[in-house]
Amino acid sequence: MADERLIVALDFHKFDDVKNLVGELGDSVIFYKVGMELFYSVGAGVVEWLKSQNKKIFLDLKLHDIPNTVAGGLCSLMKLGADILNVHAAGGFTMLKTAAEALREESAKLGIAKPKLIAITILTSINQAEWYGAQKISEQVVQFAKIAQDAGLEGVVASPQEAKLIRENCGEKFLIVTPGIRPAGSAVNDQSRISTPAAAIQNGANYLVVGRPIRAADNPKFAAEKILAEISEV
Ligand code: C5P
Repeated sequence: MADERLIVALDFHKFDDVKNLVGELGDSVIFYKVGMELFYSVGAGVVEWLKSQNKKIFLDLKLHDIPNTVAGGLCSLMKLGADILNVHAAGGFTMLKTAAEALREESAKLGIAKPKLIAITILTSINQAEWYGAQKISEQVVQFAKIAQDAGLEGVVASPQEAKLIRENCGEKFLIVTPGIRPAGSAVNDQSRISTPAAAIQNGANYLVVGRPIRAADNPKFAAEKILAEISEV
């Protein structure tokens, strides 16, 4: 049985690569992430195709603009039928609240299921040395998470290293989606605030986003199944 907690990032620019990986992973993986590389090169058709394969979709386009523009953009994206959409928490409380309300109103008006809206806190590629904020990264992440929750969003994207703090501060129902997942021994690439799949789940993550450790593996299906086995043992 597929475990929804694993979201595989489809960071490709060719549709054929998407079809090959999704076909290869088969029933093991049900949730996929479509990010800007794929969406900008292939377009909305990829979301439609994934839905036709009965897959769930996190459309990771990280909107960040003034409230009215983000709200309008999200309402357009919502019609594609993704399960999760996201915005940058740095856009501020008013932007987050306007976005959440617009999605609620538009989905009710159209009679379609409302996607979950989550906020990016601080990118998992940023480390403390590169960080420019006045407070520690973990403090800023928790502050962003609380703002997103107050604004009516369902969750956040954060590093697995901050999952525990967010869980403590935002409660059991708040969704925590963690990229920056690296199974023991795999390449770190451009990520910084990483953890293993098991540690992310132990610290309270609901969903793990995994890209290169699966996509770039010699045997992607084996790599995915190893991660699934690791999280099922937690
Ligand atoms: O290949 P890798 O496992 O590092 O992929 C992680 C994915 O998660 C990428 O698609 C990246 O855009 C996304 N992501 C991230 N950090 C965030 C939000 C999204 O790495 N804060």
